[in-house]
Amino acid sequence: MTMRKPFIAANWKMNKTLSETEEFLSQFVPEVKNEHDRDIVIAPPFTSLPLAAEKLRNTNIALASQDVFYEEKGAYTGEISPLMLADIGCKYVIIGHSERRQFFSETDEIVNKKVKTAKKAGLGVIFCIGETLDERETGKTLEILEREIEKGLDGHIDPMEMVIAYEPIWAIGTGKTATPGQAQEVHAYIRKKLEVLYGNKADELCILYGGSVTPDNIDSLMACNDIDGALVGGASLKVDSFASIVKFRR
Ligand code: 13P
Repeated sequence: MTMRKPFIAANWKMNKTLSETEEFLSQFVPEVKNEHDRDIVIAPPFTSLPLAAEKLRNTNIALASQDVFYEEKGAYTGEISPLMLADIGCKYVIIGHSERRQFFSETDEIVNKKVKTAKKAGLGVIFCIGETLDERETGKTLEILEREIEKGLDGHIDPMEMVIAYEPIWAIGTGKTATPGQAQEVHAYIRKKLEVLYGNKADELCILYGGSVTPDNIDSLMACNDIDGALVGGASLKVDSFASIVKFRR
């Protein structure tokens, strides 16, 4: 078994108003207060970040944002800078989520710029990669992941301030989880690839799995050697289900 600390993160996507955020956190914080041997992270929508920062202060739960822009300030209507996120108490930012790549035309180059500015602002990066069903079925999975890693992390990004999230796009929101075996195989490949970039530091890097994670499959996913945590969408929206995912047992 590895020495990597498990890392369980909620990605709420475009869900929850302020009052829903308040209600969730009031119940969730006491529910997981004794889980100190794992990192717990919640990424609410931008509008809920200040309230969530307040509610999570002095708890064992860290705050993340779901995206960030790659400039520190200026005439970029509608965008949010990494300095603003750090300022309100965000510790992490999710970058390169497949929904950003797919619906908002984020390229590897944009993802790379975001990674660099986020790191400059002192934010930890949750760096997302993953293949589509078509790419998997035509045998391109590893090639796609290799490209996303090489281009997205170009520029000697220090791996110690980062976690990688492998989210096969065909498993997101579909109820189709990669089997633990399928996920482990890809995670091991990703770690090998990271070794080329980072040497033995790759062994300390957390690689999360994302895509239809539930209380029912978390234990078997976490039992795999190279799966160090999870990035959870749908099942993170309910207190009970996210708390039981956080409390997985190996
Ligand atoms: P689901 O857990 O809803 O499949 O979403 C996964 C995801 O995209 C997390 O970032």
